[in-house]
Amino acid sequence: MIIKTPAELEAMKAASHVVAVVLSKMKDYAKIGMTTKELDEYGGKLLIEMGAKSAPYVEYKFPGYTCISTNNEACHGVPSSKVLQNGDLVNIDVSANLKGYYGDNGCSFILGEDIQNLSPLVNASHEILLKAIAHIKPGVRINEIGGMINQEAKKRGFKVIRNICGHGIGTKLHEEPAEIACWKDRMNRNRFKKDSVIALETFISTNAKFVYEQEDGWTLSTKDGSFVAQHEHTMIIREDKPEILTWENGI
Ligand code: CO
Ligand code: CO
Repeated sequence: MIIKTPAELEAMKAASHVVAVVLSKMKDYAKIGMTTKELDEYGGKLLIEMGAKSAPYVEYKFPGYTCISTNNEACHGVPSSKVLQNGDLVNIDVSANLKGYYGDNGCSFILGEDIQNLSPLVNASHEILLKAIAHIKPGVRINEIGGMINQEAKKRGFKVIRNICGHGIGTKLHEEPAEIACWKDRMNRNRFKKDSVIALETFISTNAKFVYEQEDGWTLSTKDGSFVAQHEHTMIIREDKPEILTWENGI
């Protein structure tokens, strides 16, 4: 959406604040030995307390409140009886509807000790997201930012997942621009628009370039066991620099 009124701005800020708080609290709550379903139910309880509804549930009938993906799962992981292990790469993605407006915020982190040596991947994903955000202005080509994410990943010895991407957001979870890829998609001639709201997300992998739907019909995973880290913020494109709406405890 393009923000046109102070009321729309306040509504987007409020929805984004909810997802940022819930993501931050879920990250703190995640413990070794907990199932992803337990972690999700905690997140679901927080959403309800804050008067919000799970976006993937409302919009897509997703079987959970939040998406929890581990290790070689890139996104849309279905909360289940899977037990979180020491050293797991965990991604929590919280998107919610508050009074008709959507916020979307995600992050990857290592649970417990980094026994799989994934800190470089996680740090790369976070740093690249912030670097990409710093280059977004009205008029900048969307594919230029994608190209930059890909270049930055390459520099660090990583790859990007090509078949999942960031998106516009507002009164729906997914709006125009439909695709903000993590690579230079030359077919995408669109430019970022002033006062538009987007959810920018990185999908940085140790090797794979594509993810595939699993038997549950939701989870998208790499085929070769590559790990994928993601970080995502909801923001408004402003003249000087984007206004990030999902800051909470530095995630
Ligand atoms: Co998300
Ligand atoms: Co998103």
